[in-house]
This record gives sequence, C-alpha cells and structure tokens, in this order.
Amino acid sequence: MAPSPLKTLDKDGSEITTVGFNRFGFDCEVPLNTLRSLYLRSHYVVPTDAANAQDLDEEALESEHARFTGGNELYQSKSIYHPETHSISYTTLSRFPPVKLLPPTQRKRILVTGGAGFVGSHLVDRLMLLGHDVTVLDNFFTGSKTTVNHWVGHPNFELVRHDIVQPFMIECDQIYHLACPASPPHYQFNAVKTIKTSFMGTLNMLGLAKRTKARFLISSTSEVYGDPEVHPQSEEYWGHVNPIGPRACYDEGKRVAETLTYGFQRQDGVDVRVARIFNTYGPRMNPYDGRVVSNFIVQALKGEDMTVYGDGNQTRSFQYIHDLIDGLIALMNANESRPVNIGNGEEFTIGEFAELVRDIVEKVQEEDGVKPARRVQIVHKPIPTDDPQKRRPDTTRAWESLQWKPRWTVRMGLEEMVRYYKARMAEGSI
Ligand SMILES: NC(=O)c1ccc[n+]([C@@H]2O[C@H](COP(=O)([O-])OP(=O)(O)OC[C@H]3O[C@@H](n4cnc5c(N)ncnc54)[C@H](O)[C@@H]3O)[C@@H](O)[C@H]2O)c1
Repeated sequence: MAPSPLKTLDKDGSEITTVGFNRFGFDCEVPLNTLRSLYLRSHYVVPTDAANAQDLDEEALESEHARFTGGNELYQSKSIYHPETHSISYTTLSRFPPVKLLPPTQRKRILVTGGAGFVGSHLVDRLMLLGHDVTVLDNFFTGSKTTVNHWVGHPNFELVRHDIVQPFMIECDQIYHLACPASPPHYQFNAVKTIKTSFMGTLNMLGLAKRTKARFLISSTSEVYGDPEVHPQSEEYWGHVNPIGPRACYDEGKRVAETLTYGFQRQDGVDVRVARIFNTYGPRMNPYDGRVVSNFIVQALKGEDMTVYGDGNQTRSFQYIHDLIDGLIALMNANESRPVNIGNGEEFTIGEFAELVRDIVEKVQEEDGVKPARRVQIVHKPIPTDDPQKRRPDTTRAWESLQWKPRWTVRMGLEEMVRYYKARMAEGSI
C-alpha cells in the first residue's frame, strides 16, 4: 500500500509545494511533486511475494511506482527485477513529464558540464521542466547515466560522453560548468587528473563561452576558503589553503579555475558567474563517496555504527539540493558577476549532526513499521589531514543580489534523503 504523501515545511513553517521562483522577469517555478517523481522513485520494481515478475499484477506495479510522486506515476519507468534469473527487464519512461512550451526568444540552448553528477542531474531536471534545450557533457567518472536517463529520447535533451580536458564545440547560450569530482576520495583518487579537469577543462569551457558569447557559470566551492581564519566566510575573504596538502588538487584547482574565469572576463569580456557552493546534500548523492551526510544515513539505515572523525566538535553547515539549484539558476539569470556564496548558514557540530541523522532515520523507520534490532551507536575515528574545523557561509551577497536564501530546513531535506536511500536499499541498489 502506498504511504501518505510527504508534507514538507520550510523554515517559516509554510508548506513547500514548488521550488524555483518568479524573479528578474524570469519564471522558474516547478511543482515539487513533478521533480520528486524523477528522483524519489525506484528504478525498478522487485516483486516481493512473487517468485516470478509475471505474477506481479499491474495494479501492484502502479502502486509501487506511485510512491511519493503525487499523481505523477504516469511518468515512471516500469522496469522489473526478476529474482530467479537475477536480471532486470528495463522499460523506458512511458511518457516524459510535461515541459514548458517556451517562445523561441526565451528558450535557451544550455550546456551543463558534469550534468550526470549529483548537482548536475538536479539542475538538468529543472532546466528541462522549464522548457530549455539541454546538452549534458560528462565523462561518467563520478556521474552516471542513470541520473539523467529519464530524459534520454526527449527532443530537448542530449547526453554526450566527453572529457572536458579535451576541447568541445557546440552552439549554446548558457554554460553551467560543473564537471569536477567533488568528494575527497574521488578527487584524491587521481590528483593530477583533478587539477587537469579544473584547469584545462575550465579553460576549454571558457574558450567555448568566448567563441559563442554564452554566459558562463562555474561551480566553485567553499574549499577556496581552506581552513578559514574568518567566520562566517564572506566572499571578500581570500582564504587559508594549504597548497601542497592532499586536498590541494581540488582547493587550488578551483582557485585557479576562478582566476581563469576572471581572466577571460577582463581580457575577452566573457559574461561570467561564480557560485561558491557550500556542503550540499540530497537524493542521487553517491552513497559511498565518503561525504558525511550519505555516510551517516547509510550507516544508520544499515544498523551499523555511525563514524564521526575527530571529537565531533568541528562544525559544518548543510544545504539541501533544491536550494542550491534555485541559487544557481538565480545567479545565472541575475546581474551579478562577483563570486556569490550559496549555502545554508544553519551550523551544526558533526556530533550534533550525527544525532540528528540518527533521530530522523529512527522516525522514518517507525513510520514505516521497521523495528531495528538495536540502536546504532556513534563512534569516533582519527580526523583526516587538513579537515577544516569550521565552515559557515555569509550569504548576505546572495540575498542582496539574488534575493536568494535557503528555504529548506536541514531536517526536511534529511527526511527526504533518508526515504530516497531507503528506497534504493529496498531495490538492492545500495
Ligand atoms: N556537492 C557539493 O556539496 C559541492 C560543494 C561545493 C562545490 N561543488 C561543485 O559542484 C560541482 C558538482 O558536484 P557534485 O557534488 O555534483 O559532484 P559529482 O561528482 O556528483 O559530479 C561531477 C560530475 O562531473 C563529471 N566529471 C568529472 N570530471 C570530468 C571530466 N574531466 N570531463 C567530463 N565530466 C567530468 C563526473 O562524471 C560527474 O558526473 C563540482 O564542480 C563541485 O566542485 C559541489
């Protein structure tokens, strides 16, 4: 039986039914349920009491796929897992979700590098629903085709396997340049490649922006502030980065990418936007990439002890993916070419955060009638090198220039994310 629909409240206690906004003469509002139907769904149905998928009746299938999608099950994939042969019969979407019909003057050709990654795929969902023409460029190093395959075949969508370290030619109006591994195990896996992606990849994409006169937005990071001596961090702060430590390939890579971006602005008049993104979490995050939110949730859901590195007094702030995408779209369409912090200022110690995740996992399990064998414990391990002690954005500029501030509470975002991972576990993909 399908559970009751999720009700999501924002920081002021009002229900969130849409994301996006209507601002700067630009309407990018999208119903939350339509978006959820794209990410909060199972990729395939696992028949529970049926030994064979043939025994799974159509109605049960519909109801399984209808979970959390508020009437959008029409747009769900109907793939089925066959336990006997350990195989999946894939189907493509029966229909694509409706996308806006934009007049040619408003319809943009948008290139999203890294569009098959966590942030990129959510941006792609949003831009597609808004009616734009979207091309994703990705080498699938950390991203996956499954994050965007619900758009494959749509006339407004193109997915291209390409490594941005090599030049790429296309006509476009806007470039969201996101391609770069973002989690420490991934960017440290091949540090030289990470620097090449940051430098040569950004150089190639800026060259493309220069040639096509496209507006160029780069996803920079709060890591450009390093282990900050100023708290919270405003965009005026120059940072405190170790240039030779294990994180330098990413931190310095992003710093030089920003330098390149402003070089092209000064020398060639490229229209640039720089988003300094702080810790973001949400569905489609790789559960095993070592980031704290996914680590905690997966450990708690599996009933394993939750690992806190160090004494747990280091602080972090976490923003939910929909707030970030709102911020990126606002920045791209606003008149602000200085760097802008996009993050949630709600600060937690890692110890407090672990407890919050454990509470939410327990709440969701209780709602779903799951009784864990024991309460998971929080255990401590030594802290990795150069792990920053404090991180919190000063988002005054984002408010003044974009009228953007985060709407999602950490708790609401976590609840949705726990449900997402739980669904992935149920289908056996985690
Ligand atoms: N998620 C966060 O909390 C966060 C915080 C700060 C900044 N960012 C930035 O946002 C962007 C996206 O991060 P994410 O969390 O979605 O990471 P991700 O690893 O999920 O996505 C990165 C994408 O880029 C692709 N990619 C990597 N190298 C490439 C190359 N050489 N050529 C083509 N494609 C390549 C990967 O396959 C992947 O699809 C990154 O630039 C990251 O630095 C993210």
